[in-house]
Amino acid sequence: MNRRKTILVTGGAGFIGSHVVRRFVKNYPDYLIVNADKLTYAGNLENLKDIEAKPNYVFTKIDIVNKQAIQDLFRNYVFDGVIHLAAESHVDRSITGPDEFVFTNIVGTVNLLNTALHSWQGDFREKLFYHISTDEVYGSLGSEGKFTEETPYDPRSPYSASKASSDHMVRAYHHTFGLPTIISNCSNNYGPNQFPEKLIPLAINNIKNSRPVPVYGKGENIRDWLYVEDHAAAIDLIYHKGITGDTYNIGGNNEWRNIDLINLLCRIMDKKLGRPEGTSQKLITFVKDRPGHDLRYSIDSSRLQEELGWKPIPDFEAGLEKTVDWYLSNSAWLENIISGDYERYYDSMYSGR
Ligand code: NAD
Ligand code: DAU
Repeated sequence: MNRRKTILVTGGAGFIGSHVVRRFVKNYPDYLIVNADKLTYAGNLENLKDIEAKPNYVFTKIDIVNKQAIQDLFRNYVFDGVIHLAAESHVDRSITGPDEFVFTNIVGTVNLLNTALHSWQGDFREKLFYHISTDEVYGSLGSEGKFTEETPYDPRSPYSASKASSDHMVRAYHHTFGLPTIISNCSNNYGPNQFPEKLIPLAINNIKNSRPVPVYGKGENIRDWLYVEDHAAAIDLIYHKGITGDTYNIGGNNEWRNIDLINLLCRIMDKKLGRPEGTSQKLITFVKDRPGHDLRYSIDSSRLQEELGWKPIPDFEAGLEKTVDWYLSNSAWLENIISGDYERYYDSMYSGR
């Protein structure tokens, strides 16, 4: 078959990456989607079981820190585009072990930039290097205001500093070498397939197992939550219609204090598990705060909405219910993850907190 495009998706076995891969494989049968992923603790091919046999999908196990492996990959395929999601993504892990964040998020991104630049050899027609980033690069807000595309960078955790560094390198390759790049900075995602180290799936798993639900500090930190499929839809739109060299903010306009979000989740879980109202709330346990914990994130995504016509789903409670339903009906997926290493991670992160 004549392929219209061949796209490299890095980190496609992870949470957001798997939704992006599925969307592109299903929506663009005439594209070839090459998913390159190291399969760290966060990468899981079970996330893509439903599409793994599709003729326009290929998986390859690759560490983006390995320059030679990336160069070989670009020799094996003629890529029209790269959608770069591979990253170490958990803030708490970046505090206990920042090195991997520097290797994967910074060095890995530079390896990809260098290889794309070299492989495309100055002929950038129809080419695009699309880098997926986070709103955390903008720092932390007080009670007012929102992050716009013009907000100066002010990363405050090793994770956000590594993502900010990679964003700077992507922009530098655009300005210095003319590499066609786009960056998008998104707020907190939630939905099916998220690794249960992040707040929402961790709380769902703990409530299900009647374990304490750890809330950092007083639970007053605010996050702006977006359903993962809305993020994948935004990535699709930006990949196809975004302006090269530009940045797009993506966010749900959906701010929640952690404690209010956990209370809502507790109510939903009681209903779904047929437990008396108030049962799950009793599990909420306030624990020692995350060091350097950013107070508030809030994204102004009006540019994406006005220029490209993107809209997130408006009903957060419905999105959360859908997410809970997914975790409850995919207990094998969850059980596989929480056996072995996960327990060790959980103990090291939460015991004595
Ligand atoms: P995730 O941790 O669920 O998945 C990351 C994936 O990258 C995994 O499949 C992992 O195996 C792979 N990976 C890690 N190191 C690698 C390496 N060296 N080589 C190849 N593959 C490697 O992450 P996620 O939550 O899906 O986030 C994906 C991207 O989106 C990241 O770049 C993250 O910074 C960004 N982002 C995430 C959120 C969020 O709320 N989760 C919000 C905004 C932006
Ligand atoms: O804003 C986008 C970012 O959102 C992404 O770039 C990151 O990859 C993603 O991990 C996420 O970062 P956060 O640190 O905001 O997500 P996390 O789910 O770890 O935490 C959400 C909030 O909940 C935060 O204020 C910390 C708090 N929290 C988290 C955990 C894991 C708790 O109170 N208890 C917990 O056990």
